[in-house]
Amino acid sequence: MSRIGDCYNIGDFEARARKRLPAPLYHYIAGGADDELTTDANVRAFDRYELLPNYLRDIRSIDMRRRVLGCDLAWPLILAPTGMTRLFHRDGEAGVAREAARSGVGYTLSTMATQSIEEIAAQPAGPRVFQLYLLNDEALNFEMIDRCKAAGFDALCLTVDTIVAGNRERDLRSGLVIPPRLDLAGMFQFAMRPGWCLDYVRGARIDLPNIPGGAGDISTLAAYFADHMERNITWANVERLIAYWGKPFAIKGLQSVRDARLALSAGASAVILSNHGGRQLDGAPPTIDLLAGMVDAVGDHMEVILDGGIRRGAHIARALAIGARACMTGRPYLYGLASHGAPGVARVLELLRGELARTLALLGCAQVDELGRSHIRSAGALPDFLRAEAYGDTTPPLRTVR
Ligand code: FNR
Repeated sequence: MSRIGDCYNIGDFEARARKRLPAPLYHYIAGGADDELTTDANVRAFDRYELLPNYLRDIRSIDMRRRVLGCDLAWPLILAPTGMTRLFHRDGEAGVAREAARSGVGYTLSTMATQSIEEIAAQPAGPRVFQLYLLNDEALNFEMIDRCKAAGFDALCLTVDTIVAGNRERDLRSGLVIPPRLDLAGMFQFAMRPGWCLDYVRGARIDLPNIPGGAGDISTLAAYFADHMERNITWANVERLIAYWGKPFAIKGLQSVRDARLALSAGASAVILSNHGGRQLDGAPPTIDLLAGMVDAVGDHMEVILDGGIRRGAHIARALAIGARACMTGRPYLYGLASHGAPGVARVLELLRGELARTLALLGCAQVDELGRSHIRSAGALPDFLRAEAYGDTTPPLRTVR
């Protein structure tokens, strides 16, 4: 068995996850919609934001605490909701929630989770968010909210970007079926991954316990979506949910300033700027490129949380410097879980936390609140005197260079 300590970044964990998981499951995590332009761009876009340090500053202690969605976080990260988590490792959502609490970050439980609201509430206390997918029966939605209230969840997050399922061609090609069928056809792929198979067979049956009445036959996710998801979420719906919940409420999946303003008017306390990790609308811009505009429009009145493409602590630093209140991350912790179970999640969090602290120190910031746009510069931006030259402007520079 490969040693967890030999993983030094998220890419290392992804490679391990790819080796341990049957191919359809690895591609279910890693894949995006259509040509995966947005999935790739989410990550790559961070490279365009260079970091500009200041030195000779006292960085003997680094304070990364932030209050987000009414919760005190030790550092500004919330684990994004991901469905079907127990398929990747028996430690499942409960294992992830436990490690999030230990690291002092938030955890978001998905409507499509394979462990229940109540099972997560029974884990060691930590900031807990429940992610709501609206079903086309309002009574059932309120039933889920009642369970979150009873279980003491801190915040709700309503995902609005899945009104229809994204076109994930990797899943079509790999023949992904949930729950996986260990039949003859699938046997070959799965036989190649004995570690995962043993874990899967030993684990409890996979179902969706947060959906009132269960999801019935979840033979394919697409069919489930088509039958049960609300396709007409209105702002009036959202206002009713916010009033009924009465605690911090985030809307996940908004990308336009227009929608963020409407979310503010509806009474939401946070917007999660997200394109679902590129799994829904391919061609949507990378979220980091939309961040400054959204922060400028609504950031004085509500929290803006950036989701998508975070693979390094330095990516979190860039987002915070631009004005995000916190970040969310999905695939990185799933790769940790899929490769090594809950200890893998712990190590992923340790790496990201360490990278963020080191980036702050190297930027000369003793606190996350000291990060600002003066720390960011456009990659490849030419100094003014060269820019003039590039446009064929031959007038001498105004200031004399000494
Ligand atoms: C997701 N995501 C997601 N989002 C959501 O609101 N509810 C859900 O049930 C799921 N399920 C899910 C499963 C898997 C396997 C992945 C990879 C993602 C999207 C997720 O919350 C988040 O927006 C993205 O993962 C962010 O992009 P990164 O961090 O993976 O680049």
